Amino acid sequence: MKVIVLEDAAAIGRAVGDIVCNFIAQKPDAVLGLATGSSPVPAYQRMIARRRAGEASFRDVTTFNLDEYCDLPAEHKNSYRTFMREELFSQIDIPLGNTNFLDGNCADEAAESARFSRAIEAAGGIDLQILGIGRNGHIGFNEPGEAFTGDAYKVALTPSTIAANSPYFVDRPMPRYAMTMGVGQILQARKIILVATGAAKAEAVRAMLEGEVTPLCPASALQGHPDVTVYLDPAAAGLLGKNPPAPS
Ligand code: PGA
Repeated sequence: MKVIVLEDAAAIGRAVGDIVCNFIAQKPDAVLGLATGSSPVPAYQRMIARRRAGEASFRDVTTFNLDEYCDLPAEHKNSYRTFMREELFSQIDIPLGNTNFLDGNCADEAAESARFSRAIEAAGGIDLQILGIGRNGHIGFNEPGEAFTGDAYKVALTPSTIAANSPYFVDRPMPRYAMTMGVGQILQARKIILVATGAAKAEAVRAMLEGEVTPLCPASALQGHPDVTVYLDPAAAGLLGKNPPAPS
């Protein structure tokens, strides 16, 4: 995996946003895998700025989001569908019909997973996947467990994730379950960019990059992917081993 340390979240956002915009300039009908959470937001802001400057168009882009809460109305302010609309989609020129989400309120999880897999396949597969990483090493909502996961499924969120995300839920308790793309599905993306900032991510980043490949750190599965670039700030890189990458 390639590791790039930049000075702060804003610098990472500019770099990653530019990579996405340059990618879709080359392939206007690119298929993007997108993440929620705070990590990708600076990159989304860069994409919005470049769209406003007339330097990028998302008109023919298709997106698939990694995950969605269960038992939360799609229109609730904390749903990931709402997050993506507010943080990105309403501010760029992508048709909402080109954006795809798992349905966290589906009656049949297996059928929903199959539908999502078919939609990704019909779009030609994900060209570029943006990821964050949880403090516990999760990617998407693939929590530490006994085995790596494959296609999308319903997951019980762990206490670590509930503690990390509960502050966002002011009017109701945070959902305890989510639908998430599986690790195997994430690994099918042709190119992956993972963003991590802050000291709270340092141990997960170390385990991902330098630990053994184990479902106890779902992000460690990325070691087996041929095209992953990890963008870190110095705090998130703080526990990397003997030869930590120099800030560039
Ligand atoms: P964050 O979440 O970007 O809000 O830190 C990342 C994640 O949990 O995957």
